Amino acid sequence: EKGGYKHFMAKEIAEQPVVLADALTHYLQGDTINLPETVDFTGIERLTLVACGTAFYACQTAKYWFEKLAGIPCEIDVASEFRYREPPMPARSVALFVSQSGETADTLAALRYCNEKVEKTIAVINVPTSTMAREADIALPIHAGIEVGVASTKAFTCQLLTLAVLALKAGLDRGHLSPEAARKHMEALRALPGLMNAGLGIGERIAELSNQLAEAQDILFLGRGPLYPLAMEGALKLKEISYIHAEGYASGELKHGPIALIERTVPVIVFAPHDGLFDKTVSNMQEVMARHGKVLLVSDAQGLTEASEGTWATLQLPEVLEPWAPILYALPAQLLAYHTAIAKGTDVDQPRNLAKSVTVE
Ligand code: F6R
Repeated sequence: EKGGYKHFMAKEIAEQPVVLADALTHYLQGDTINLPETVDFTGIERLTLVACGTAFYACQTAKYWFEKLAGIPCEIDVASEFRYREPPMPARSVALFVSQSGETADTLAALRYCNEKVEKTIAVINVPTSTMAREADIALPIHAGIEVGVASTKAFTCQLLTLAVLALKAGLDRGHLSPEAARKHMEALRALPGLMNAGLGIGERIAELSNQLAEAQDILFLGRGPLYPLAMEGALKLKEISYIHAEGYASGELKHGPIALIERTVPVIVFAPHDGLFDKTVSNMQEVMARHGKVLLVSDAQGLTEASEGTWATLQLPEVLEPWAPILYALPAQLLAYHTAIAKGTDVDQPRNLAKSVTVE
């Protein structure tokens, strides 16, 4: 059932091009976005996104998309905070809950709170028969297929894809995005499975680097814009399965504290596609190198041409239309955790202290 792979996690990472392509056929048909008619963001004052763990990082990424592509004010929070904050909600709100299992106790409680308060609740889930799918006004499956590995991988990228389609729909509904621009984005989303397939090749290089990463006590992940949540996702994945302490930071935050941690033995992984924020991220990366940090730069051909000098190592991914980079860059985040855990000899599919579904708070 692991289909020739050593671990479910490896299989689930590798099948992302296929499951993403499948999810795309459900949600994009030609130039048409295929969502239930009730998914409508016209006149909505605020979008609230709530989840836990990896699903929360998917929400945090999507905030950038909803704000930029749809001009919709967006609030995000982790479910365990949201539910006890009992925040005021504008009635003309949509509240969106993201959960692989559809059963996470805190996210479910947050959904129940919002069911009483807002116009519409949407659950983005992987399990169509789950409690959240039943209780939300609208349930949208992410079409990832069953995820067995405790560390979420393909569910994360399929969550991102579903949220990307929702952001495009919101952009069109609100007249913030022209039909031509939306078409260009749809094309870019359709290209993702192919780019991911090509991107999987970096696994070999990551396996080579993993022995050195496995010796680290601490590892930092940096990113800007929509790559910032991915930095935190990379750190979470690494902590979960390799038990190495890791933190993800917005690269601009580095000088406000975490730079004190930098020394020769601290690997710093930088997610920096050659986008509008590239130069800013590279300047933060140079601050790390000036303090002898060991930088692993993840970028595209152009980015590596411009900024590889002085790095410890580099990983090259294909170019991708700007806002969608986190979907592709999830691959190195996952593969770095996977291979480092293998190098350490930890149990990748069943990490200590963790359960696949957290149904108690
Ligand atoms: C991390 C991971 C967890 C889950 C979180 C939410 O790899 O899997 O952080 O993302 O427990 O679970 P769901 O998505 O089922 O609500």
